[in-house]
Amino acid sequence: MNKIIITIDGWSACGKSTLAKRLAKALGYVYIDSGAMYRAITLYFLRNHVDWTDIDEVNRALENINLQFVFNPAGKASEIYLNGENVEYVIRDLVVAEKVSEVAAIREVRTFAVKQQRRMGKDKGIVMDGRDIGTVVFPKAELKIFMTADNAVRVERRFKELIMKNPNTTIEEVKTNLEMRDYIDSNRKVSPLKKAKDAIVLDNTNLTEDGQFRKAMEWVKEKINPAE
Ligand code: DC
Repeated sequence: MNKIIITIDGWSACGKSTLAKRLAKALGYVYIDSGAMYRAITLYFLRNHVDWTDIDEVNRALENINLQFVFNPAGKASEIYLNGENVEYVIRDLVVAEKVSEVAAIREVRTFAVKQQRRMGKDKGIVMDGRDIGTVVFPKAELKIFMTADNAVRVERRFKELIMKNPNTTIEEVKTNLEMRDYIDSNRKVSPLKKAKDAIVLDNTNLTEDGQFRKAMEWVKEKINPAE
């Protein structure tokens, strides 16, 4: 069957990864969470006290970072490894979330990540989610989805995820973090979050996970078999 590239961009905590994972599983495609790469780089910078306002330090640090995605059959998805260590869980901490937008705004960091993302898509058959996937990483992707949802719904969803890991999490800190990241992600100079002209908007405020999946699968089928 004709393999395509599917990009899913949008605001933080819109449910991009849930949809992306499901599509990849149904189609037998690779799923890549590009945000995990920026989070893993941020984790490395924090652990190694890298001063990311100093570009020479950033470049030296990037030379020591090796990122890999390894499929975990138990979770039925790929997980990210930083220099051989599985960091899939630890990169979701608020400590990383608080700094990741700053790190992701650095041009050198983006060049480093985008180069690897493009390599992963060279054989197509990939679903990648992020902020600039349809605009910068794969501008020629066959199917581009731009996800959005009401702010309150997004805060509630992310709060439910984080409270399970840390019972001290407050809804206010989650809200502040999402607002701050959305602001930085959509206002930065390099590859800001924006809808690609040819992306289809999927507002999932009032849609179930099944509803979103069905809609997206219809779009996929139109792209794979345009004549049908
Ligand atoms: O998708 P996420 O929330 O895990 O992404 C973490 C951060 O990484 C997000 O605040 C912005 C940044 N990011 C980016 O700049 N470009 C991408 N393609 C993916 C994520």
